[in-house]
Order: sequence, then structure tokens, then C-alpha cells
Amino acid sequence: MTTELSSRLSAAPVVPLIGENDPDVAVHTAEALAAGGLSVIEVVMRSDDAQKGMEAIIAKTEGLIVGAGTVLTLDQAKSVLDSGAQFIVSPGLVDEIAEYCLAQDVPIFPGTMTAGEVQRAYAMGLRDVKFFPASLAGGVPMLKALGSVFREMRFMPTGGISAANLSEYLALDHVLACGGSWLTPKGATEGGDYAAITKLASEAVAIAKG
Ligand code: 3PG
Repeated sequence: MTTELSSRLSAAPVVPLIGENDPDVAVHTAEALAAGGLSVIEVVMRSDDAQKGMEAIIAKTEGLIVGAGTVLTLDQAKSVLDSGAQFIVSPGLVDEIAEYCLAQDVPIFPGTMTAGEVQRAYAMGLRDVKFFPASLAGGVPMLKALGSVFREMRFMPTGGISAANLSEYLALDHVLACGGSWLTPKGATEGGDYAAITKLASEAVAIAKG
């Protein structure tokens, strides 16, 4: 992981997901999150225009670290990196994506949910992985169990994280950051209620500090 990404996540270990179709909404959402103190953002590639939204955020905002999430293939990884993504997140572990990112020195967080997957990531030289879908994969007790055997690994749980359980995950030393969509609810993004997004981001920062 780059030093800058690492220090941002140490300061505010929360990665909000943006999944907007409209690039303008994506930009306003990113700005609202940054105003609340979250400057590492994952734009999920789950619609035809998601990459355009990511490109718009990169072009029109300053000071953010913008990554691409839900990256499923090596071609897609190369494409989002060409568009300026600074890190890659995948729901699962695909060797060719992980190997490419390792070779290019691009931070990658591949999804894992079993000891076998974490061990495969470890054997490939990865030390940071996503733990997904966190709540269904065993939540905090499972992360404690994985952390006790994979002592060099750090995890980014996502899937079912919210303000209600954020502190439980962040209390674990081997949790690098928590990710999630609870910070960008559709009602707020589609309704243009960016103040609500800033409030959710500020709350998450306060929970992380507490
Ligand atoms: C992800 O891609 O990390 C998950 O879809 C996030 O899950 P959430 O919507 O429950 O936060």
C-alpha cells in the first residue's frame, strides 16, 4: 500500500462506496464525504456509467484518493487504472488481477472470507485484503479468528457495516479500515441531500476516533 493511502486510512479508517450513475451526483457525493472527513473513496463499477463517475470525481475534486471497486476482470482493472484509479477492490481473489497490481505497485484489496482464501492471498505476497461480505462471513468473531493465525494480514471488512457496528470492527488491531455503502444512501444521493452525507461521514469519523 502507498504511504499516503496508509496514513489517510490510519487517520480515518473508513472507506465509503459511491455507486452513482450520474457523474455530477458522484462528484457532489465525493465532495460531501470529503467535507465530513473521509478522503479515501471507492467507486464501485456496478453500472455502465460508474467509470465515468469515477473519472469525473478524479477530474473535478482535489485531495481525494479514489479507487475502483467491484473490479471483476484484469481488463477492467487495467481500464480503471488508466482512468486514474489509485487502488483496486474486488469482491473475490482473482490471481491475475492481484499479480498485475502487485507487479505495478498498485494497492489491491481482493475479497476473502475463508482461511483458505486469506492463505492464498498471503502466499501471493498480499498483506491487505477485503473481508467480504463481513456480516455474513462471520463478522467480528470470524475476523478475530483469522487475525489470530494470519498475524501479518490486515483486513478491510465490508458488507453489512454501519454506524451501529463500526466501532466493534475498528476495535480489532488487524482491521485496517471498514468500507461500506451506509455513508451514501440512495435517498440522500438521488434526493441531492449532500448535507446528510457529510453528517454520516462526520459521524463515522467520530466513531473511528472514539
Ligand atoms: C461491497 O462491495 O463492499 C459491499 O457491497 C458493501 O456492502 P454494504 O452495501 O453492505 O456496505
